[in-house]
Amino acid sequence: MKIAVFAGDGIGPEVTAQALRVLDELSLPGLTLFEGDVGAVAYRRHGQPLPDETLEMARAADAVLFGAVGDFSCDDLPRHLRPEQAILGLRSELGLFANLRPAAGFPGLEHLSSLKPEIARSIDVLVVRELNGDVYFGDKGERASAGGREGWDAMSYNEAEVRRIAHTAFRAAMGRGKRLTSVDKANVLETSRIWRETVIDVAKDYPEVTLDHMYVDNAAMQMVKAPGQFDTIVTGNLFGDILSDQASACVGSIGLLASASLGERQTEHGTFGLYEPIHGSAPDIAGQDKANPVAAVLSLAMLLRHSLGREDEAVRVERAVEGILAEGIFGGDLGGNATTGEIGDAIVSKLLTI
Ligand code: NAI
Ligand code: MG
Repeated sequence: MKIAVFAGDGIGPEVTAQALRVLDELSLPGLTLFEGDVGAVAYRRHGQPLPDETLEMARAADAVLFGAVGDFSCDDLPRHLRPEQAILGLRSELGLFANLRPAAGFPGLEHLSSLKPEIARSIDVLVVRELNGDVYFGDKGERASAGGREGWDAMSYNEAEVRRIAHTAFRAAMGRGKRLTSVDKANVLETSRIWRETVIDVAKDYPEVTLDHMYVDNAAMQMVKAPGQFDTIVTGNLFGDILSDQASACVGSIGLLASASLGERQTEHGTFGLYEPIHGSAPDIAGQDKANPVAAVLSLAMLLRHSLGREDEAVRVERAVEGILAEGIFGGDLGGNATTGEIGDAIVSKLLTI
């Protein structure tokens, strides 16, 4: 088993280091780590944010553990040399079409949510967002119109694209509460009509999963009103971008939330994927030992689950994180005073008791 580790910029290396300590503690047999440069660090060393050797390392691995990229010193560079191109390039070059973002309330942290504590406590949702299609990738342009310049973007999904994300979502739902909500806007969009019909067809392969459908406007409302009703959500790129951010805000700090981006390639024990915190490189707190490493550690748990087939270890890591948070061990982002290293220490110690 090979893991490519791309720690990147800002707090990326700080939080990734803690995830690697946790991985080390698990002592998985036959595991090899490779470290590669991405982002501003890669630009300074190799003249590119995503060097070929980094991409090759990712292709040869079972999974990528990613920190974060972004550095204000690169703001004046042309777009293709900016650090953020590293993550965009990895997603497209590696065919990572499925973005999984779990958002679950942590006991004792409900007060950090943008919702009432009793509602925040009920959140445990996985948003599965399609990442390679939709209006973001369709034809776009500018044209003259009677009303002045007009911008346009074409929205489309074909059956094959919907089918593969639907399979990913059904499989994910099988590993959770076996309920899947497909979110679309089938009352007005042709794209959504194809989406819905295809999801219904794929559902035949998963008789144990209960499927329902919701229009995106209603889903946005239900997410803040009664998020506890959701188990797994599957949706397109645009709706998923918005709904997954909304679900995150329901939990609390950005430093708590992990994500997986999965491709089609099967590895020995699972699916190839890239795992990263949802936060960025946080230059405002970089180098101060203040970053919350929980999102990076939970990204590692997702890697263990989806790419290495190590469900037991994934659950152990998640339990350890829940344990230390419940004990009030956290940093400034959650109103505490533990440093990045102290939080890592606590997670590692907790792991030994589970
Ligand atoms: P950000 O997520 O880096 O930071 C937003 C705020 O949250 C900051 O105040 C930061 O201090 C705080 N924060 C973030 N992660 C934290 C953690 N683990 N612990 C404690 N506090 C944390 O987003 P921002 O400031 O908009 O972007 C900074 C840079 O990161 C930019 O260059 C941006 O392009 C890049 N970025 C990269 C991403 C990636 O690598 N996938 C994703 C998002 C942004
Ligand atoms: Mg977003």
